[in-house]
Amino acid sequence: MNYKIALIKGDGIGPEVVGEAVKVMDAIGERFGHTFEYTDVLMGGCAVDAVGKSYPDGTAEKCKACDAVLLGAVGGPKWGHSTNPDRRPETALLSIRKDLELYANLRPAALRPALAESCPLKNDEGIDLIIVRELTGGIYFGKRERYTTEDRGEEAADRMAYSEKEIERIGRRAFELARLRRKKLASVDKANVLETSRLWRQVMHRLAEEYSDVQYEDVLVDNAAMQLVRDPGQFDVVVTENMFGDILSDEASMITGSIGLLPSASIGDASPGLYEPIHGSAPDIAGQDKANPIATILSVAMMFRYSFDLPAEAEAVERAVDAVLNEGWRTADIAKSGETSVGTVKMGELIRGKL
Ligand code: IPM
Ligand code: MG
Repeated sequence: MNYKIALIKGDGIGPEVVGEAVKVMDAIGERFGHTFEYTDVLMGGCAVDAVGKSYPDGTAEKCKACDAVLLGAVGGPKWGHSTNPDRRPETALLSIRKDLELYANLRPAALRPALAESCPLKNDEGIDLIIVRELTGGIYFGKRERYTTEDRGEEAADRMAYSEKEIERIGRRAFELARLRRKKLASVDKANVLETSRLWRQVMHRLAEEYSDVQYEDVLVDNAAMQLVRDPGQFDVVVTENMFGDILSDEASMITGSIGLLPSASIGDASPGLYEPIHGSAPDIAGQDKANPIATILSVAMMFRYSFDLPAEAEAVERAVDAVLNEGWRTADIAKSGETSVGTVKMGELIRGKL
């Protein structure tokens, strides 16, 4: 098969980690008889510098012409202070999610076996959870306002709204995913305070009856934050709304020891899925061959699994990563003090060597 992939290399370490991931894709292509065709798409701070906008016209169309999108990282302090939304890298991220209707954001946090002993938390059962974050609704996309009131002076408001339909489609994704895993689903909300959460819970309960083979529970978001550090092994699939998912997925990424290892997928029903490492653009180490390419390489594995239905290829990539880690190879972010580490390019080369 031939697959077309849009590459949004982005800012900071983005181009370096995407570079290694592309070489891994090509190696997989050779071994399994696929070809991958790449189209570079400009987005993020680099696009602000080049054309004055973080999300240049035609970005979504270019991505839609491909079968999947691989994104390195966008943003950095250089562009962070702009008050013009067109010049903010975050605008590009939210726009592409909306334009491609990527309403489901899958953020796994799995402890790689080779790194289990460096995990600071109790993990007798291991840690292997996945957060399913709603990505195109809620407070991220509600009306934002800034106005002056007579009695309280300057005021701001962000509207958080969810429709039954939006909740149901993300809920279904989560239940379906739970069926493919350990059949446990925790739905995180704030139903003791928020009306959106009460509707969320109502819809989830209806689905829970339909998916009665999945063990379902409601968890309040504050409790979820606590449980994640107390005993992360209890979770399998966790589904939640946009902002709670943003916060909890950062927390979950840390409990596995390194954010440099974690991939993510953003998918919808029709458009190409978007795959990206969870980490940011790390401008402090950009261009120094220090970044860990594993999160991006594992994002490629997710692309194979979720967009191309190529589970064997996905597993080959994951096994190669584990084999390299098992041999003790580390990049600087996961090396313990005293351990030697390798650079971005070398890590990529070692992983390809195992394919
Ligand atoms: C993420 C990021 C983005 C988000 C920011 C950069 C807009 O934190 O992907 O989690 O909040 O969704
Ligand atoms: Mg975030």
